Amino acid sequence: MLSAMTKTLLALLIIFSLFHVPAFAVKKKSYIVYLGSHSHGPEVSSLALKRVAESHHELLGSFLGSHEKARNAIFYSYDRHINGFAAVLEEEEAEAISKHPNVISVFLDKGKKLHTTHSWEFMQLEKDGVIPSSSLWSKARLGEDTIIGNIDTGVWSESQSFSPHGLGPVPCRWKGSCNTAGNVSCNRKLIGTRYFNKGYLVSAGLNSNSSFESARDHNGHGTHTLSTAGGHFVRGASVFGVGNGTAKGGSPLSRVASYKACWPPVNGSECFDADILAAFDMAIHDGVDVLSVSLGGDPADYFADGIAIGSFHAVKHGITVVCSAGNSGPAPATVSNVAPWILTVAASTLDREFQSFVQLASGERFKGESMSKALPAGKMFSLTAGAQAKLANASAIDAMLCKEGTLDPHKAKGKIMVCLRGNSSRVEKGRQAAQAGAAGMILCNDKASGNDITADPHFLPATHINFFDSQALFSYVNSTYLEPMGTLTAPAAAFGIKPAPYMANFSSQGPNTVTPGILKPDVTAPGVDIIAAYTREQSLSGLEFDHRTTAFYIESGTSMSCPHVAGVAGLLRTMHPSWSSAAIRSAIMTTARTRDNRVSPMLNGSYVKANSFNYGSGHIRPNRAGDPGLVYDLTLNDYLDFLCAVGYNQTMITLFSESPSYKCPKEASVVDLNYPSITVPNLTGSSVTVTRKLKNVGSVGTYAANVREPHGVSVNVEPSVLKFDRVGQVKSFKMTLKPKWVAKDYAFGGLTWSDGKHYVRSPIVVSTA
Ligand SMILES: *[C@@H]1O[C@H](CO)[C@@H](O)[C@H](O)[C@H]1NC(C)=O
Ligand SMILES: *[C@@H]1O[C@H](CO)[C@@H](O)[C@H](O)[C@H]1NC(C)=O
Ligand SMILES: *[C@@H]1O[C@H](CO)[C@@H](O)[C@H](O)[C@H]1NC(C)=O
Ligand SMILES: *[C@@H]1O[C@H](CO)[C@@H](O)[C@H](O)[C@H]1NC(C)=O
Ligand SMILES: *[C@@H]1O[C@H](CO)[C@@H](O)[C@H](O)[C@H]1NC(C)=O
Ligand SMILES: *[C@@H]1O[C@H](CO)[C@@H](O)[C@H](O)[C@H]1NC(C)=O
Ligand SMILES: *[C@@H]1O[C@H](CO)[C@@H](O)[C@H](O)[C@H]1NC(C)=O
Ligand SMILES: *[C@@H]1O[C@H](CO)[C@@H](O)[C@H](O)[C@H]1NC(C)=O
Ligand SMILES: *[C@@H]1O[C@H](CO)[C@@H](O)[C@H](O)[C@H]1NC(C)=O
Ligand SMILES: *[C@@H]1O[C@H](CO)[C@@H](O)[C@H](O)[C@H]1NC(C)=O
Ligand SMILES: *[C@@H]1O[C@H](CO)[C@@H](O)[C@H](O)[C@H]1NC(C)=O
Repeated sequence: MLSAMTKTLLALLIIFSLFHVPAFAVKKKSYIVYLGSHSHGPEVSSLALKRVAESHHELLGSFLGSHEKARNAIFYSYDRHINGFAAVLEEEEAEAISKHPNVISVFLDKGKKLHTTHSWEFMQLEKDGVIPSSSLWSKARLGEDTIIGNIDTGVWSESQSFSPHGLGPVPCRWKGSCNTAGNVSCNRKLIGTRYFNKGYLVSAGLNSNSSFESARDHNGHGTHTLSTAGGHFVRGASVFGVGNGTAKGGSPLSRVASYKACWPPVNGSECFDADILAAFDMAIHDGVDVLSVSLGGDPADYFADGIAIGSFHAVKHGITVVCSAGNSGPAPATVSNVAPWILTVAASTLDREFQSFVQLASGERFKGESMSKALPAGKMFSLTAGAQAKLANASAIDAMLCKEGTLDPHKAKGKIMVCLRGNSSRVEKGRQAAQAGAAGMILCNDKASGNDITADPHFLPATHINFFDSQALFSYVNSTYLEPMGTLTAPAAAFGIKPAPYMANFSSQGPNTVTPGILKPDVTAPGVDIIAAYTREQSLSGLEFDHRTTAFYIESGTSMSCPHVAGVAGLLRTMHPSWSSAAIRSAIMTTARTRDNRVSPMLNGSYVKANSFNYGSGHIRPNRAGDPGLVYDLTLNDYLDFLCAVGYNQTMITLFSESPSYKCPKEASVVDLNYPSITVPNLTGSSVTVTRKLKNVGSVGTYAANVREPHGVSVNVEPSVLKFDRVGQVKSFKMTLKPKWVAKDYAFGGLTWSDGKHYVRSPIVVSTA
């Protein structure tokens, strides 16, 4: 999308290197030195903050030889909640520092990628624009006064989604502030803006200028995600009139804050660990309740990952952190943001399509998708394939792809061009067709792109069809005995499409490669063709020649599904202010469903039954999450026990937790973390017993266990009935799993506790290999 910009940045880097780095110089890189937590209370004096910075200079100075050198090397001192610093160091220096007894980890400052509105109606929070009393929106007062922050590309503060209409004064617990550089403005809705650029500038080798000194969103991603989580109601929101409706976020009456840590890509990364950590540190200080983080890198060790560390500190302060699972699917073992204190979200479809049909004179009709202008109704046009309209000097294959400089205006004028997908951007092909004077375009998938069709805003009336239909269209267009004629129907939103949801092909999948005993992703939510607020600083397609901007735009990705769940977490915050972030996650997970709108098992992108590695516990059901009955709760010590179990030693954990009294249990085990899903990656012995605790957050009642055994595994739950005499009561149970035979693949089952009214579901994932 921003490849031209990337090229400029890379060229600058090369030039910078040639001029400034002598051939013999040792290569310095930016590192993060992580030291754990600070013990200072909520009211930190500037003197205390200064002391923190000095202690960092002292520590680093003892390795570099002077305070002066340390001061020059350090570009961030994390001084509020997260203890550590980011500095430019040589590899040997970093290596030496990592051995210091107060240091938990030293890691390279790695880059990360950025990974309506009908979606709320699809999830039954509203019906025909009316909010029923059964809706979580009614019960949770639309997320009133919950504070939702995101770490992203900033915010376009002018968007109507951030209008303060009808909101009272900013909650007095808010300690954040509004950085107004670049004309960003705040109000009672958008209550905080900050930006963090130092890690980016060091990694990109750039000097700062005004475009890097503002929380303004030049990309659109941050505005889209923040408005999806917490945007206000905006009537008449559409993309050029298509998808017209009332836009809204998951917690429409929440307050929102933007932490900009992502910038134009360098080497494929937009956001760097050093900036992400700084953003987390300030968000904790400012007092957000929920953080939505739609970005990630390759799965990494917990203490070598800015998101894992930052989110741990956030969760420790009662913040719910929701992250995207990544867009590296459908390959297995690609899920990122896998720490067990994060709520990790996959992406699936809605039951809406922006349809524009190809109608041929022969009577054939193919369903396509589009967000482009309509052709004049009732008129037929002649059809021509790129290869038939080629310039004499162009190759047939390049013309078929409608590449630049290949189409002959004499042959294209007034016709509908048929172009093959691939090698240039989809919107670029439309531009070539438009420049050659075509009246419209049909974009045809090749074999590789299969059924993957996208509703794009083209420069001319256009639609996009799948591979199967493309083959039929080509043979019609090729026929020589009559003139191929056809038209495109006006793009219109169609609802109730079945099946929905199904998993998006791009959604990253389990198993979890860092800790196989924790199932990730946790849940799935809408992430395909989501309409939300956008920035006017960026053109629609992001391409250089495109000057069209829009206040609302359609985007797909786990970046879009993540803020849906953040919005729901915001509602639960308002409704149940005393719940921990683990209780909120448990409520969302145990009430999720694994069936689609045909009441059949949810499918993957090839229309084959999907499984827990695709969707975790299933698709979120917000109305049920408000009243889950029971929750699998977790405390900070449970997470520390987990870290002991995965092999961090007592010394490291003591530094990390800042609680000298905490001791690693003698027999810590990953399977015993009180997680709302159950994964035994390693059922190779005679049996494995898993312990869980359930807390009653509903009403007095008796719950019975119902197990769906994974194929080839016998499961016994003891006790199989739990009687809760009061709210808040905690009861535990044990589940024993025994392999019946050795299977080469993972097997999937489930456990449901029910009192006849609530259904508390957990997926069971087992490998006997
Ligand atoms: C900020 O707004 C003022 C007044 O509208 C305008 O003159 C100025 O150019 C703007 N600055 C930027 C950086 O957009
Ligand atoms: C800031 O620097 C970047 C990279 O060098 C450049 O692309 C951009 O145009 C500059 N912006 C301003 C406002 O100077
Ligand atoms: C969207 O719908 C509203 C109400 O139905 C209507 O007033 C408005 O003109 C429509 N906007 C567009 C761009 O079609
Ligand atoms: C880009 O990535 C390559 C390969 O990972 C690496 O060698 C190179 O140093 C990176 N360049 C920058 C500017 O980070
Ligand atoms: C073919 O020639 C035209 C000028 O007549 C030129 O604009 C175009 O770029 C050429 N195309 C190719 C593929 O060389
Ligand atoms: C697209 O470009 C790649 C690399 O230039 C080339 O290998 C491939 O054959 C092209 N595909 C088509 C359909 O022309
Ligand atoms: C998903 O990918 C498969 C190939 O892996 C392809 O056959 C299918 O058409 C894709 N589905 C969609 C909806 O794009
Ligand atoms: C259409 O004709 C072109 C040659 O003109 C040929 O390459 C292509 O395979 C034909 N496609 C179909 C589907 O018949
Ligand atoms: C869907 O699931 C089937 C069966 O597990 C698998 O073979 C296929 O690759 C999956 N498709 C996608 C796109 O994930
Ligand atoms: C704890 O782990 C760290 C990092 O692996 C190691 O340097 C240290 O020696 C270990 N301490 C003990 C007491 O084993
Ligand atoms: C699997 O189980 C064996 C024996 O219980 C243990 O040594 C090993 O560490 C386990 N592996 C994983 C990935 O849990």
